[in-house]
Amino acid sequence: MNKPVGKNRILEIKNLKTWFPIKRGILARTVGFVRAVDGVSLYIKKGETLGLVGESGCGKTTLGRTILGLEKAREGGILYDGKELFALKSYEVRELRKRMQIIFQDPLSSLNPRMNIMDIVIEGLVEFNMIKDSRKDHARKLMNEVGLDEDALYRYPHEFSGGQRQRINIARAISLRPDFILCDEPVSALDVSVQAQVINLLMDLREKNNLSYLFISHDLSVVSHIANRVAVMYMGKIVEHGPTGDIINAPMHPYTKALIAAVPVVGVDKRERVVLKGSTPSLSLPPQGCRFNTRCSEVMEVCKKKEPCEIKTGSRQVWCHLYRS
Ligand SMILES: Nc1ncnc2c1ncn2[C@@H]1O[C@H](COP(=O)(O)OP(=O)(O)O)[C@@H](O)[C@H]1O
Ligand SMILES: [Mg+2]
Repeated sequence: MNKPVGKNRILEIKNLKTWFPIKRGILARTVGFVRAVDGVSLYIKKGETLGLVGESGCGKTTLGRTILGLEKAREGGILYDGKELFALKSYEVRELRKRMQIIFQDPLSSLNPRMNIMDIVIEGLVEFNMIKDSRKDHARKLMNEVGLDEDALYRYPHEFSGGQRQRINIARAISLRPDFILCDEPVSALDVSVQAQVINLLMDLREKNNLSYLFISHDLSVVSHIANRVAVMYMGKIVEHGPTGDIINAPMHPYTKALIAAVPVVGVDKRERVVLKGSTPSLSLPPQGCRFNTRCSEVMEVCKKKEPCEIKTGSRQVWCHLYRS
């Protein structure tokens, strides 16, 4: 991690690995590992959104949680605004926590049912002793920012719709004026019509506050609306990465092609259907060679033996033997 890092990057991850031990027997011996994140490198620029897509169970949430310090990395490094996260002292980490926030998929379970909306949205401000004038003024301002009625301040989470609850979560997430928000499937539990409203709100807030997002979703069509760049994850690894338009319009990796064929993306012609065969192999025993070889429609002999290296073409990277020169 000694290389100088672009000043415009809020986050830079190098070869990150997060494995979960599998314990067996009365002595709880470690007999193997679930390799949820297995050597991921990526970066996010200030004011930019990186979309992270892939099937359920491929390690997206674990990657996000490792960035926020909620899971322990086994290997690799994370630079946040140029600072090596794993080298920070605990009080420095606490300061940084303010700047890194999270929005989850399920808006209801992340809201305390016994707290009213005012207490929920200013909870972080109270914790960090940042209330200068009246609590209500802070709360009102936050409600305005996320498009909620001020009357709602004294009501409770169960009185709101899914979309409104997600707005409450967003108000809480922006209350400490963060510069990075991890959005983990933030609209996956919402109706399609409501999804668009919440995405628009997130984009508005990004513009106004120069926020950066890591936007996790299993749905490429959702990501295509908000992300500047997309990283495609399969079994703990990134298999393709590039500008959103390039990934959607001209996917290179057979896995990306299959993901795109599986969801209708607005404004994109129907393309040849690539159907994903079978289910994901176990993360504790990844296939030899390319991890996707057991399901790939274009599999070759080499794919079963050798792990693909990074192939770079312009601003795109793909890890696939099809593109070897
Ligand atoms: N705390 C944990 N302990 C053990 N295994 C876990 C834990 N959290 C996640 N996993 C496993 O790691 C893999 C990746 O999970 P996750 O990151 O939640 O995937 P995604 O968010 O892409 O659906 C899954 O196989 C999951 O079962
Ligand atoms: Mg997840």
